[in-house]
Amino acid sequence: MTLVIAMDGPSGSGKSSVSKGVARALGLRYLDTGAMYRAMTWWMLREGVPVEDPAAVAARAAEPVLASGTDPDAPTITVDGVDVSGPIRGSEVTGAVSAVAAVPAVRERLVALQREIIGAGGIVVEGRDIGNVVAPDAQVKIYLTASAEARAQRRNAELTGVTITATQADLARRDRLDSTRKVDPLAQAADAVEVDTTSLGLDEVIEEVLRIARK
Ligand code: ADP
Ligand code: CDP
Repeated sequence: MTLVIAMDGPSGSGKSSVSKGVARALGLRYLDTGAMYRAMTWWMLREGVPVEDPAAVAARAAEPVLASGTDPDAPTITVDGVDVSGPIRGSEVTGAVSAVAAVPAVRERLVALQREIIGAGGIVVEGRDIGNVVAPDAQVKIYLTASAEARAQRRNAELTGVTITATQADLARRDRLDSTRKVDPLAQAADAVEVDTTSLGLDEVIEEVLRIARK
């Protein structure tokens, strides 16, 4: 059986950086499922779909053609052939993504795509519902956590012109939306190993995950 590592946790817990590092160390592919929800949201906004209207989002969810490149050194995401890696990190998409991701038709389509990619061989997959929903049979399940302050500080360091208070408020809002919706709550899989990264450096977290994976 090929190795699948599921990496879940809230925003700023270190999922992307840790997943890429672990994938590199083990020669695995890497999939950022959050980027797929962001790409779907980017497309909805470009099309003028009212993203707060679940029925309107559901009606268009089958249309965009999404493709994810899984090289941990150069992950890519395209929508209808256009590379949207940059625009999907913008504040407009960040503000709308939780609402779009809450729509069942969006989740069904993206989970199916994610399973197709995972089926092609060894991979580290990061997201919110990987251990519970997307890859419940993953051999290794990690749940990364960190204090709200540490997560906001890390996210804020990547942005310019945004206060730490605003970043922390945005993370709290998304945590709340992501964890209170009816489908796929942001819940730790019962069999996931929790790693608190608050006072660990990135390399220490990667080492810890590799140690868990070798067990
Ligand atoms: P997530 O994917 O969970 O949102 P990221 O991997 O994007 O988190 O990490 C957010 C930011 O925090 C990045 O700039 C990353 O370099 C930094 N970071 C990640 N893990 C740590 C850590 N253990 N210590 C300090 N900074 C970290
Ligand atoms: O990197 P960050 O944590 O800021 O967010 P992300 O991983 O890019 O995910 C963006 C949003 O997509 C999250 O806030 C969730 O609403 C949604 N998401 C999801 O619902 N399920 C996933 N497997 C991944 C992301």
